[in-house]
Amino acid sequence: MKVTISAIKADIGAIAGHICPSPGVVNAVTEFVKKNAKGLLIDYYIGYCGDDIHILMTHQRGVGSAEIHGLAWEAFKAGTAVAKAEGLYGAGQDLLKDSFSGNVRGLGPGVAEMEIEERPAEPFLFFAADKTEPGAFNLPLYLAFADPMYCPGLMLSPTMAAGFSFTIMDVNYTEGDRIIKLNAPEDLYDIAALLRDNHRFVIESIHSRKTGEIAVACSTTRLHNIAGKYVGKDDPVMLVRVQSQFPATGEVLAPFEIAHYVAGDCRGSHNVPLMPVKKNSTIGYFDGPAMVQCLGFSMKEGKLGTPVDIFDHPYWDWVRQKAAQKMSEIRRQGFSGPAMVGMEELEYGGIAERLHRLEEKFSVRK
Ligand code: F6R
Ligand code: MG
Ligand code: MG
Repeated sequence: MKVTISAIKADIGAIAGHICPSPGVVNAVTEFVKKNAKGLLIDYYIGYCGDDIHILMTHQRGVGSAEIHGLAWEAFKAGTAVAKAEGLYGAGQDLLKDSFSGNVRGLGPGVAEMEIEERPAEPFLFFAADKTEPGAFNLPLYLAFADPMYCPGLMLSPTMAAGFSFTIMDVNYTEGDRIIKLNAPEDLYDIAALLRDNHRFVIESIHSRKTGEIAVACSTTRLHNIAGKYVGKDDPVMLVRVQSQFPATGEVLAPFEIAHYVAGDCRGSHNVPLMPVKKNSTIGYFDGPAMVQCLGFSMKEGKLGTPVDIFDHPYWDWVRQKAAQKMSEIRRQGFSGPAMVGMEELEYGGIAERLHRLEEKFSVRK
């Protein structure tokens, strides 16, 4: 049976700054989806990660369906109306265009979706991150799908021996989708050369080279490319199929133990560790930490069943402690050097004017 999984997310307003949506907003989005799901969706799951609400939907309309995207868009509009009425901060901030044109791509919300031929058992992971950028998934995906140091299945499992093909997008290019396809293992160094730049090159999808099946779909939206100015970080969502011909759940999760440094946190302008957190976590320190949630599903004929909150486990408590420590270490040096992102990625323009003004005060000593 062919099933499409669509994860669409947006920041439509939050309590006390950019912390989390209110129960009223989550309820409005949920009620809208519930009311309009009939005949369209097989199943859905709604939650939030920091200030971003995600709608995970299963259906049979394929990827990029106007009806499915339209449902999410209207649900976010219904949520925005409540956010405005409640005086939430940044109400409707990711609904960047006034009208819906058939697909939410390029309008503000983030989308990760895949159409699959459902396996007899279809385990998959849904990741949602906040206060960071789509490239935050580059390193964990590289390690899980191309490095036997993290994914022993690459050397142990005959079904994975052929490796995986990576589709990588240049998200700085705004005229269209500029992509490159590279194969692991033979193109490893080329893949690494691109993926080191999380701001510009982002994994869009990964496919099994043995079966051609899709394993991973990530959202690649760059809000500041759409809006032409800073309107918030492009907090990503991602779908990862696991087990059998794909890496095991444990192999996909393993790299998140690093709590690697990514761009994000306060004003989207700092380099901070990515903390794995429990579902529906709120923002707690320095407009961060940059965080990632993971829900594990077993889908059957499009039905999602009861998800497992993957990072709700004592092991990840230890990782959270470590991430907090890494965070404090780099935070203590404030604006200095690698603590902040480079000039190109600073998303508040004020510093450019400041530096411009200072330019005129410089003189060259004779
Ligand atoms: C980061 C983020 C926040 C805001 C900060 C200032 O992605 O959303 O750190 O940048 O709270 O927000 P404004 O400019 O809305 O006052
Ligand atoms: Mg957010
Ligand atoms: Mg936000």
